[in-house]
Amino acid sequence: MIEQAIENRPSLVPEMLWDIDHYKEEGLYFYLETTEDILPNGRVNVTNHGEMIMLGSYSYLGLIRHPKIDAAAKAAVEKYGTGTHGVRLLAGSLVLHNELEERIARFKGTDAAITFSSGYVTNLSTVSSILRRGDTVISDKLNHASIVDGCLLAAAEFSRFRHNDMDQLEKRLAEANPDGRKLVVADAVFSMDGDIINLPEVSRLCKKYGAYLMIDEAHSIGVLGETGHGIEEYFGMPSDTVDIKMGTLSKTIPSAGGYVAGSAELITFLKHQARAFIYSAALPPASAAAAMAAFDVIEEEPWRVKAIQKNYNHFAGRLREAGFDLLYSETAIVPVICGSTPAAATLAKYCRDHGIFVQAVVAPVVPEGLARLRACVSAVHTSEDIDYCVDVIIKGGRELGII
Ligand SMILES: Cc1ncc(COP(=O)(O)O)c(C=O)c1O
Repeated sequence: MIEQAIENRPSLVPEMLWDIDHYKEEGLYFYLETTEDILPNGRVNVTNHGEMIMLGSYSYLGLIRHPKIDAAAKAAVEKYGTGTHGVRLLAGSLVLHNELEERIARFKGTDAAITFSSGYVTNLSTVSSILRRGDTVISDKLNHASIVDGCLLAAAEFSRFRHNDMDQLEKRLAEANPDGRKLVVADAVFSMDGDIINLPEVSRLCKKYGAYLMIDEAHSIGVLGETGHGIEEYFGMPSDTVDIKMGTLSKTIPSAGGYVAGSAELITFLKHQARAFIYSAALPPASAAAAMAAFDVIEEEPWRVKAIQKNYNHFAGRLREAGFDLLYSETAIVPVICGSTPAAATLAKYCRDHGIFVQAVVAPVVPEGLARLRACVSAVHTSEDIDYCVDVIIKGGRELGII
């Protein structure tokens, strides 16, 4: 009887959304590859592939392996060891946690900041803890999954506007419950398309309708603005334009974790109400120290911010000139549109066969017909490597009839 019940159980795992076996059979599978070494100039050494030029990294300023950052992490381990005592509300904060939060607040021009153990839970927990029944959260349709999940978890009404469409945002603001609070939330730089939210207009509309504004700076810290301080600097807007300034410590900042910077009142609230802060352990000392040193490095080595802007212009300029559609990308994230899923997967394989680490991103992650190579340039790629990658992508694109 029991055996039969076990035998008749439906499969533990449901059907997958993408056919991994097919990818593997066709030699198109290139996910979860093992990196053995992180090399200088944006290169990596990958098991079974050898040295490759890395176009899949979020380390926009090339800060992984930066000596000052590595030294800070090592010193933190020497002083505090590897772990924390658990959650900060129960076991207290390390000096390092408080210093990191002060550093982030200074970098973002706010009263205070809070850190969480990942960027994902930062969004999830912030959005869901701030909002109450009767409130409305209004989210750009291309926002990151962690924002979407935070909106789904919140008790508030969840409403969405077409990507960067300010008329529709205004409509959503006008429709929102006038008796509740309104929160507009958007990525600063959209992680699949590399374009930038129209902050001046979003901010104007928020003021007009009495809404609060939250911006996710996962892909804009170190990238946007003359000195890499992010989206407000990029648009020349005051540092109190955004009420909830969210960011990650896992991309430009070569560590792990996420943060929110904002008013003292907001941060005190999150430290006592956000479930991912209350119920999840503090950042390990090495991660906190590395993150803190990285904010210093961004300010001490301004050439990096200039270099990423220059590398983007060179990379995207040449690809557009050759006829590629890069959507509205303006930043280090460059979607090289291929059209169909097989076209994108085959161009990615072509690149890989020529020593370039780049992924194809296909439906349902992006809309059908907009399958793409998703390339990220970094400040430390050499111009020779950028030219080489562009030459390979153009040659492959022509051979496959994409351009
Ligand atoms: C826009 C955006 N927000 C949040 C996250 C989550 O950050 P983390 O990887 O630090 O959890 C990501 C991750 O890619 C992201 O792209």
